[in-house]
Amino acid sequence: MKSILFTPLDIGKVHLINRFVRSATHDYMADDRDGSIQPAQVELYRRLAEGEIGLIITGHAYVHLSGKASPGQIAADDDSKIPGLKELVSAVHGSDSGSRIFLQISHAGRQTKPSLCRQQPVAPSEVYDPVSKIMPRALTAVEIYQVIEWFVAAARRAKEAGFDGVQLHAGHGYLLSSFISPHTNRRQDDWGGNWEKRSRIIREIISGIRKVCGPDFPVAIKMNATDHLPEGITLEEASLIARSLELAGLQAIEISGGMNEAGLGSVWPGVRAEEDEGYFVPLAVEVKKKVSIPVMGLGGIRTLRVAEKVIASGRVDLISMCRPFINNPHLVKDFRLGRLEKSPCISCNKCFNPRGIRCVQNKSEAGKN
Ligand SMILES: Cc1cc2nc3c(=O)[nH]c(=O)nc-3n(C[C@H](O)[C@H](O)[C@H](O)COP(=O)(O)O)c2cc1C
Ligand code: SF4
Repeated sequence: MKSILFTPLDIGKVHLINRFVRSATHDYMADDRDGSIQPAQVELYRRLAEGEIGLIITGHAYVHLSGKASPGQIAADDDSKIPGLKELVSAVHGSDSGSRIFLQISHAGRQTKPSLCRQQPVAPSEVYDPVSKIMPRALTAVEIYQVIEWFVAAARRAKEAGFDGVQLHAGHGYLLSSFISPHTNRRQDDWGGNWEKRSRIIREIISGIRKVCGPDFPVAIKMNATDHLPEGITLEEASLIARSLELAGLQAIEISGGMNEAGLGSVWPGVRAEEDEGYFVPLAVEVKKKVSIPVMGLGGIRTLRVAEKVIASGRVDLISMCRPFINNPHLVKDFRLGRLEKSPCISCNKCFNPRGIRCVQNKSEAGKN
């Protein structure tokens, strides 16, 4: 019998050939001067598509230089980036596999430093970041509208470059995540306070994208349902926000968690046992009870049997993985052909490499990305 993992699913009008998602993965490989796409990235995406991943989500692309988070990060901050982004899309659509590709669009907010973003980092409120040792500057209301425009313009560029959709990065403590978190959003105006006001910026972005890109261009989100901080976002609030975003036109949701200052981030080390797999799945299952759009389960999923169980029970709709595809971009194909039953990724986190992501455990992949 065919595994449910290899059955299709649609996100809006975008047809996915199977239930596997490559979770957004920053690769440190763009031109650090301006975030433009480099040939090694085109090759990486060609290999991911060849590997039959249903939906490939790019690394986070900054929507404005003030939101650059990391060296070698890709950018969608002006129209000059469209030709390079088109090459990524062509590498995926040119494959026979039928893989689709979304651009993840992001602003780092307070989780960056002036040497990267060339200014004092911005945030909803002045809340000191003990990791970067930065006191951010609070955005004015006028600047919040500007941020919304940056996200909408980045989505318009994604559409022009041929992407099948966009994913808003509202996780891990970056700007949109810091808006929905009561820990980092202490505003008393229309953009802070209760969960509705804290999430307003995201609904405004979705509605702006809808206007510019039309109803058929999917907008997905990666969102924290926990910050791993006692005063951070709660699952209950995240579920209410998710429902409100669906009503605003959101078409898929990926549930994640963590913030730099929490110590426990989104990329957990040492996931080895099957019981440890899917560390954000229980949160996604709860959010799914409140929405009818596809929900992605994430966090340390490594084993085919575990993925199958999660999907077959209807607890989530899609399986999202990141590190296993750094280890092996062809993992899904290897699963389908019965060549592998578990990703060899041991969650050691040594793939964070400023010279370009690579798996230290899989020497045969070294140099190919
Ligand atoms: C090298 C690396 C880069 C990442 N870049 C991003 C990113 O650009 N955007 C994002 O939302 N998450 C990013 N993540 C987090 C992953 O998408 C994912 O949420 C996390 O690694 C858990 O999934 P996994 O256990 O399958 O790796 C990154 C993770 C790694 C290891
Ligand atoms: S270096 Fe390889 S094994 Fe270690 S976490 Fe990264 S992909 Fe997995």
